[in-house]
Amino acid sequence: MQGKFADEHAVQYHIGLARNMLAGATLALLPGDPGRVMDLAAAVGDASPLAFHREYKSALARVNGTNVLVMSTGMGGPSVAIGLEELARLGVRQFIRVGTTGAIQPEIALGDLIINEAAVRLDGASTHYAPLPFPAVADHALTGVLLQAARELGVPHHLGIAASTDTFWPGQERYDSFTGYVPRKFQGSMAEWQALGVLNYEMETATLFTVARAMRVQAAAICGVVAQRVETEGVASQAVYKLAEARFQQVVKRILAN
Ligand code: URA
Repeated sequence: MQGKFADEHAVQYHIGLARNMLAGATLALLPGDPGRVMDLAAAVGDASPLAFHREYKSALARVNGTNVLVMSTGMGGPSVAIGLEELARLGVRQFIRVGTTGAIQPEIALGDLIINEAAVRLDGASTHYAPLPFPAVADHALTGVLLQAARELGVPHHLGIAASTDTFWPGQERYDSFTGYVPRKFQGSMAEWQALGVLNYEMETATLFTVARAMRVQAAAICGVVAQRVETEGVASQAVYKLAEARFQQVVKRILAN
């Protein structure tokens, strides 16, 4: 499939970036949180801020003579799909989600990393790109690179399938919501995903993998565990966030150094 390239100076409507601002970057690191962009860019290279429009904050990191884009996607599939559409027009061809997640298997500890090779499509946005029988699968080579870096660094990590939802509360079967009500279709769903060996809940990966496949570009995902759902519905302390962040920064830095 031949995609459309944007004119060099055409600023994309949502992300506030034009092709010339990317200075040739073809790889994008995609945290969800705009607050993580500058730290991630600085952790991997010489960082310079680019734009901040809506949920899309961006920076360039200069690493070994090449430029890497770091851009937040915000939360949820619709924001991811828009981000991918506009970045692909600017020439980005490799996308790595660098996010946070809730583990649903007992052997996974807070602060561990999860590399997702595929995702259960509980989102809505991916269904606008491909019918549900189409799988949400990561790029094998890009995933292998993440896995190798995590292994070499000795960082605790797990490889497996995510369940990507459109909601943090009912979709992830949390009962500590405002109403406490979980619709029938999600009651018992966490036990089902656990029985099927799914590792984690998060809100972006299924859209990322499906849209990337539809566009014939490469995508992978690595997330730090900030909730252990076998024990509690809550999320962990800031210290755990910091640990997870330090670990995924280490892994990403390693893959870019090679
Ligand atoms: N992100 C999610 O979507 N769920 C969690 O439990 C933690 C982070």
